[in-house]
Amino acid sequence: MESLIIQGGNRLKGTIPVSGAKNAALPIMAACILCEGETILHNVPDLRDVRQMCVLLNRLGVETERDKSGALHLRAEDEMNCHAEYELVSKMRASICVLGPLLAKRRKAQISMPGGCAIGDRPVRLHIQGLEALGADTDLVNGDFVMKAKKLRGSELFLGGAFGSTVTGTANVLMAAVLAEGRTVIESAACEPEIVDLADFLNKCGARIEGQGTPRIVVEGVASLHGAEHTVIPDRIEAGTFMIAAAVSNGELTLKDCRIDHLVAFVDTLRRVGLNIEKGDKGVNVSSSRRLDPTEITTQPYPGFPTDLQAQTMVLLSLADGNSVITEKIFPDRFLHVAELNRMGTRLRKEGPTVIVEGVKKLVGAPVMASDLRASAALVLAGLLAKGQTRVQRMYHLDRGYEKIEEKLKAVGADVRRVTDSI
Ligand code: EPU
Repeated sequence: MESLIIQGGNRLKGTIPVSGAKNAALPIMAACILCEGETILHNVPDLRDVRQMCVLLNRLGVETERDKSGALHLRAEDEMNCHAEYELVSKMRASICVLGPLLAKRRKAQISMPGGCAIGDRPVRLHIQGLEALGADTDLVNGDFVMKAKKLRGSELFLGGAFGSTVTGTANVLMAAVLAEGRTVIESAACEPEIVDLADFLNKCGARIEGQGTPRIVVEGVASLHGAEHTVIPDRIEAGTFMIAAAVSNGELTLKDCRIDHLVAFVDTLRRVGLNIEKGDKGVNVSSSRRLDPTEITTQPYPGFPTDLQAQTMVLLSLADGNSVITEKIFPDRFLHVAELNRMGTRLRKEGPTVIVEGVKKLVGAPVMASDLRASAALVLAGLLAKGQTRVQRMYHLDRGYEKIEEKLKAVGADVRRVTDSI
């Protein structure tokens, strides 16, 4: 296993290019199951999850190849296998994104039921209900969902759950509805930019989707889809993570290819806390005033404050002059980073789905254990500002969602290096 060794205290200065969005790329790749002919995707980040999705798609008969320019070519060649096995689904929950496309194109999908993960229960009931509303039948066989449909028919359906809309659930129903007969209306659809990107891609392939980016998506089914060329949107969560890196290191970063219009709630909070965030000629410029104000945040579905930036923001607020309150409304158990951060000197007190963040003057380096992707990013940020050395173990979590993170950080002055653990 690999670790990241960080010598804290360096001021970060320079430009960081933002990669393509993992959570947009994964469902778009899965959507290629629906298409006749070749699709070419630009700006697909080279990440563990993306490579994992390629392995799954290959097993499902979709050929994938990166060309010299980095573009990813995908083409469905063989429609025989409709089974996403436990071995693959357990490695990456986003494997569930093949459910809708398999059902719509091949009339059958067998997907191992994803279990819980480090950030809590991850139910998929809404995905199933939405697809059943389009006419599919479901069976549970040896821990696998088996969904079948002789024909999918458009329907009006509601996708909201106890915690709001579902992102990959919306993606699945949308990808099935594009080939269903007639009109589908998805109410309480997820509004995330990644869903808009998926819908825009599907429309390029011949789908007829309107309302993406709003809670009401309307789809007129079509008989078939063709491949298309598409550029994936930039990763708003990676961009947000680097904004915090600029602030906690007292640095000045320019983020190239950063869409701050996808980060309105987050940027608004950061500005209130004391960051300067402005659009410039070469990207988005981020710096911070030395004094950070405390604040209250609550994570919500888009356009609210993103849960995927909760852990990282906790590190920033640990440096504020006073107490902050963070409430997690999407994944109420997504707090595994709290105990690890406290080992580095933060004063975080968890009370149910809320963490009280007491501002402290400094953090100290320590060996810490990454538990999930965004928690690992928070530990790296803490390491950048801590006095002394931090060793973030289990880099594979970070590699799922941050492309070339140590190269990007080194290029702006961070003292970081990846090492292979001896045990
Ligand atoms: N939910 C249900 N029933 C369902 C599905 C979801 O109750 O059938 C609940 C969830 O338990 C949660 C809420 O609805 O409380 C939202 O979950 P959602 O389904 O939207 O999450 P997801 O689609 O599984 C995606 C991202 C996550 C991100 C969440 C929330 C991808 C591949 N994953 O997950 O990204 O945290 O939306 O924005 O798009 C990450 O990148 O680190 C990550 C975890």
